[in-house]
Amino acid sequence: MKQDLSVIILAAGQGTRMKSKKAKVLHEAGGETLLNHVVQQALTVTDPARVVAVIGHQADRVRESVSAPIQFALQAEQKGTGHAVLCAQPFVDPSSELLMILSGDGPLILPATLQALAESVRGGIQGAIATTEVDDPTGYGRIIRNEQGGIAAIVEEKAATPEIRRIREINAGVYCFRPVIWKLVEQIHPSNPAGEYYLTDVVELMMHSGGQVTPLLVRDSTELLGINTMAELAVADGILRQRKAMELMLSGVTIENPASVTIDRAVTIDPDTVIEANVQLRGDTRVGGGCRIGTGSVLRNCVVEDNVSILPYVVADQAHIGSNANVGPFARLRPKAHACEGTHIGNFVELKNTTLGAGSKANHLAYLGDSDIGSGVNIGAGTITCNYDGTKKHRTNIQKGVFVGSNSTLVAPVTIHQGAYIAAASIITQDVQPDALAIGRARQENKPGWAKRRREMDTVEK
Ligand code: UD1
Ligand code: CA
Repeated sequence: MKQDLSVIILAAGQGTRMKSKKAKVLHEAGGETLLNHVVQQALTVTDPARVVAVIGHQADRVRESVSAPIQFALQAEQKGTGHAVLCAQPFVDPSSELLMILSGDGPLILPATLQALAESVRGGIQGAIATTEVDDPTGYGRIIRNEQGGIAAIVEEKAATPEIRRIREINAGVYCFRPVIWKLVEQIHPSNPAGEYYLTDVVELMMHSGGQVTPLLVRDSTELLGINTMAELAVADGILRQRKAMELMLSGVTIENPASVTIDRAVTIDPDTVIEANVQLRGDTRVGGGCRIGTGSVLRNCVVEDNVSILPYVVADQAHIGSNANVGPFARLRPKAHACEGTHIGNFVELKNTTLGAGSKANHLAYLGDSDIGSGVNIGAGTITCNYDGTKKHRTNIQKGVFVGSNSTLVAPVTIHQGAYIAAASIITQDVQPDALAIGRARQENKPGWAKRRREMDTVEK
């Protein structure tokens, strides 16, 4: 990476066409805010210290939303893209030989395009602008070419004549300039219908000063899509999801019906894992190799080790699933659920802040909360840990090799020591000694002939 390039990201606007209370760059596509996408792309051409985001609308929230240690310049009042660039100037390293300007609302730009843009300016010209041809150029600045194929001017929609509006080559809002730009930006006048300082006016100023701005025509216009509405946000989301799925498939992951899955940008999946249709993998979920993630499952910020089988419709949040575990269908793993190696978690089982030891099984209908469960434990169907007394949470400790009979109620705090056995349907309120049998339920009484007598009484009454 050459140390001569600084990046300014314009992100101060509200984005009124989004019709949302939230600043535009805070909206998410592909599991990441628009601004974070652009920051990530900027970091492919320079260091975080050389990236300046111009913020204004909801500045604090926008600043906090950025995950990399970049710089921020405040544009208190949004007077246009030209004014925004001037606001960034005090934060830009004056030794920078190239200045790249990106829009916070253009999340689809690819590193190769940024590199090509920088290279063409390094080749000797004063500036280069990414352009592309679109079927519907409405809303974009139109590119006016000169005879040499350079850019003569950029005309904004509001200022365009009907003839200019028919031009399909548009300005994508992605620029690279030499430092001469600073002098020119100061000369921009808000003499347009919107009364804004248009950055795009530097093109003509550059020409008048004898310089040249070259277009870099990008063939795939989707890369340069600018997000102005919720509808465009959905289009960008679709493209980012598609790119992510493609990247995973090329790295050895099987994805059934790739158009149906939702996989966030930061998710990692090792080869030979199969992702069934309609799966959602969110946040920074990491999935190992040789796994199968069943249809309809939703995993957020989870770690799944190798060779795990997740059957359909498992919902997991901040859970850790050890290798060779079997989970689902219809299981729920809440924060700090840790299913160790080789565990079995079956249908309608919920774990929260609970460790289920290696090889332990909870196959049907159970709530296991705030529990430490050892290895080789069998949790019978319908087991409930009563972890909450209405005021405080308490822990349940179930040691190695314990057998918990079906429909048991374990009232925390309580410890079931190693190798103990809980009779089915027990209510356990006291600790159980190692290898003991605990029975906590009313003794059964059988009354011979009672049912028959009752039936006979019914017949007499009729
Ligand atoms: C801009 C370009 C247009 C181009 C389009 C590409 C100008 C004058 N026009 O138009 O030629 O086709 O992008 O998407 O530059 N911003 C600020 N401060 C401001 C104004 C804007 O930071 O005072 C930021 C916005 O938050 C946004 C970006 O700059 O991230 C672009 O602004 P926007 O209002 O969306 O410009 P467009 O009208 O789309
Ligand atoms: Ca825009």
